[in-house]
Amino acid sequence: MIHARGLVQTFTTGRGKQTKEVRAVDGVDLDIAEGEVVGFLGPNGAGKTTTLRMLTTLLRPTSGTATVNGYDVLTQSVQVRRSIGYVSQAGSTFSQALAGDEVSDHGQLYGMSRRDAVARGKQLFDDLQLDGLWDRMPKNMSGGQKRRLDIVMGLIHDPTLVFLDEPTTGLDPQARANLWEHIARLRTERGATVFLTTHYLDEADALSDRILIIDNGRIVAADTPDNLKSQVSGDLVRLEFADAAHVPNVATALGDIGSDVVVDGAAVSARVRGSARIVPGLLRDLEARGATLDSIEIVKPTLDDVFLTLTGRSLRDETSTPDTAQPDKEIA
Ligand SMILES: Nc1ncnc2c1ncn2[C@@H]1O[C@H](COP(=O)(O)OP(=O)(O)OP(=O)(O)O)[C@@H](O)[C@H]1O
Ligand SMILES: [Mg+2]
Repeated sequence: MIHARGLVQTFTTGRGKQTKEVRAVDGVDLDIAEGEVVGFLGPNGAGKTTTLRMLTTLLRPTSGTATVNGYDVLTQSVQVRRSIGYVSQAGSTFSQALAGDEVSDHGQLYGMSRRDAVARGKQLFDDLQLDGLWDRMPKNMSGGQKRRLDIVMGLIHDPTLVFLDEPTTGLDPQARANLWEHIARLRTERGATVFLTTHYLDEADALSDRILIIDNGRIVAADTPDNLKSQVSGDLVRLEFADAAHVPNVATALGDIGSDVVVDGAAVSARVRGSARIVPGLLRDLEARGATLDSIEIVKPTLDDVFLTLTGRSLRDETSTPDTAQPDKEIA
């Protein structure tokens, strides 16, 4: 469905002597199979949107090759565009038209009859909980409603390959959950392939068959969520005691069975592989020594831990910024 080799995008910023080259995407290889839902994760500025723009032919790669749906992004951009759905991070620009008219015009642009476009559009409005807004101007919609309208526009022609750039940013929890369901159904009911970027680790985890993590323009990991998480060395076990006197002994014991031991006052934590088997024995041992536990916490590795392990930084603090950058090189 999607195959890319050595995709590179460099941007030149600044003027005169201040010119600087930004290597936004730095040699990306991708292979995405039909029917896969792939989550594309990475911090702000990692190169996610730039990669998507190259794959959707909105930006000509500086170097490298890619085929999308069997079409070459460089020489067959019209065919690529006809065969995909794309919801950009910035959203669509809307005219003064009514939402329903925009949607059905958009469908007709893809060769649908007006009747089919209206029927499909109304179904999507219903699915994405936009009922009652068909005759509303987009400028009079809330941010989350507009975002869902963007998604309707991207899906109106029933594409079998869909690119979604942060589709759920700005949606309330209920609208997010609803969109997750819709994305899952695109795959199960229509066999669609979905390539989506997100900052929400739980979202990537819940939706994706496979996750690609990009950092500084390079893919640093590509695997199923479970395999990625099993790369992190064990569950995080945190024990807190009524009396800090026991902490040094416990830290030593945890050091023997795990790694990354951290002492914090009367609490001690460590990464322990197979914690379900190991921790009960440890607790019995502690009890025998008279150490009274105040609390115990065992946390399975998350995708954020994976990112932290791979890059030494956390993804969790990242917040999304709207993509307002203008591309240097557009393909007409
Ligand atoms: N038209 C442009 N001109 C100059 N630099 C650009 C341009 N577009 C993007 N960049 C830079 O390229 C890098 C990658 O940007 P990109 O938008 O692909 O990141 P992203 O992973 O989508 O981030 P976010 O999570 O914030 O959406 C950033 O450093 C960005 O500032
Ligand atoms: Mg982006």
